[in-house]
Amino acid sequence: MSDRLFIFDTTLRDGEQVPGCQLNTVEKIQVARQLELLGVDVIEAGFPISSPGDFNSVIEISKAVTWPVICALTRAVQKDIDVAAEALKYARHKRIHTGIGTSDEHIRYKFNSNREEIIERAVAAVKYARKYVEDVEFYAEDAGRTDNEYLARVVEAVIKAGATVVNIPDTTGYCLPSEYGAKIKYLMEHVEGIHRAVISTHCHNDHGMATANTMAGVLNGARQVEVTINGIGERAGNTSLEEVAMIVKCHKDIGIETNINTQKIYPTSRMVSSLMNMPVQPNKAIVGRNAFAHSSGIHQDGVLKNVQTYEIIDPRDVGIDDNSIVLTARSGRAALKNRLHVLGIDLPQDKLDKVYEDFLRLADKKKDINDDDILLLAGADRSQNHRIKLDYLQVTSGVGVHSVASLGLDISGEKFENCASGNGPVDAAIKALKKIINRQMTLKEFTIQAISKGSDDVGKVHMQVEYDNRVYYGFGANTDIIAASVEAYIDCINKFKPD
Ligand code: KIV
Ligand code: ZN
Repeated sequence: MSDRLFIFDTTLRDGEQVPGCQLNTVEKIQVARQLELLGVDVIEAGFPISSPGDFNSVIEISKAVTWPVICALTRAVQKDIDVAAEALKYARHKRIHTGIGTSDEHIRYKFNSNREEIIERAVAAVKYARKYVEDVEFYAEDAGRTDNEYLARVVEAVIKAGATVVNIPDTTGYCLPSEYGAKIKYLMEHVEGIHRAVISTHCHNDHGMATANTMAGVLNGARQVEVTINGIGERAGNTSLEEVAMIVKCHKDIGIETNINTQKIYPTSRMVSSLMNMPVQPNKAIVGRNAFAHSSGIHQDGVLKNVQTYEIIDPRDVGIDDNSIVLTARSGRAALKNRLHVLGIDLPQDKLDKVYEDFLRLADKKKDINDDDILLLAGADRSQNHRIKLDYLQVTSGVGVHSVASLGLDISGEKFENCASGNGPVDAAIKALKKIINRQMTLKEFTIQAISKGSDDVGKVHMQVEYDNRVYYGFGANTDIIAASVEAYIDCINKFKPD
């Protein structure tokens, strides 16, 4: 009999904390429904006290999904717990995730406190949360750098206080796999009552060891893993769901099972990447564009003779099928609808009609329409309600000539236009834009990326613009990269806080 490993997905909390990855409530619901289809056990839906948006998202996600436990994060503070309990009121299965820093660094510098007082606060928070819900998870923040003896005392105390799950985060991504595995083993062996709670891993990837550390935790007794889709998360990210799910599936010898429907992995990865405008690195394990591409002659020869020579995972097992690039200008509405459905998106008829029109327009410019393009089209109306829209753009550029751009904007229905020259087409277009939007703003970061390989591809542009001592993130996508750049700049401006 295999042991069950619970999958706790924190894409919508730890993942969403990444600058530029914020989703609105409708998008979060879309991701939550997809996570339910994927088969995750717990969805961490947000940190309700942190903002009205997070509070509202936890409420709406609680209403939208049925099977997974909905979890809300808090600090070890009564007000946080009150607000989390309120946000969870519609959840069929609910969990409060409360906790406090336990490393000496956190105790001294963050709380100006001492070890005994931290245990008291931890116990009080768990007891308080238990007044609202039966399922309380406790996190010992920075457990990775917390000494094991003290950590064991904290864990024992919170289990006695009623914690049903205890999370051992390697918050800074500091641990070696052997060290993290030994930490879990130490707890399993030294904490009285440990079997009354599930021990959970939560590993960050600062040293590129998040998945290795998570697996070391599992091999030593952890039975819940905290993960995100595509490994997104603060700094270098969190452990990625798809890696852990496929490791335990491939290594039957470990004797662990999850509830993940692995064929939903790829569509989920595409959806999260597209909604968050966060590209997946091409060589990312399991879901990267090159994860199953064999380019060396020796490998290709082997794979042609027998695919098992170089492939340990059948791409179909993670939902990558040969249909990933099938839509062209000749594809009908039904084919588009079907592809969107595979990608986890079911649109009402009017929205489908609009996406189909955009699809045909794009297909005129681009031969093959891939999943990323379709997800972009399906999400394109995200900018529809923006106050400032690009009306037209004309650029002249080339070698040996000055680039010149003229550009028109629609600002709340009023038309404005201007022109400028620059040291390149993007520079000229942005200078023209700045003549209309006359504010002190500085471009801090600018990346252009094509999704597939052709010169007809859709270019994605990510930008950061500083205005009034704040940095705003913007995104644009277009087969014309100058237009995509201007759209990304406008996206930033649309997010400026009002003066
Ligand atoms: O990394 C961390 O320690 C966390 C906790 C808040 C669970 O995300
Ligand atoms: Zn974290």
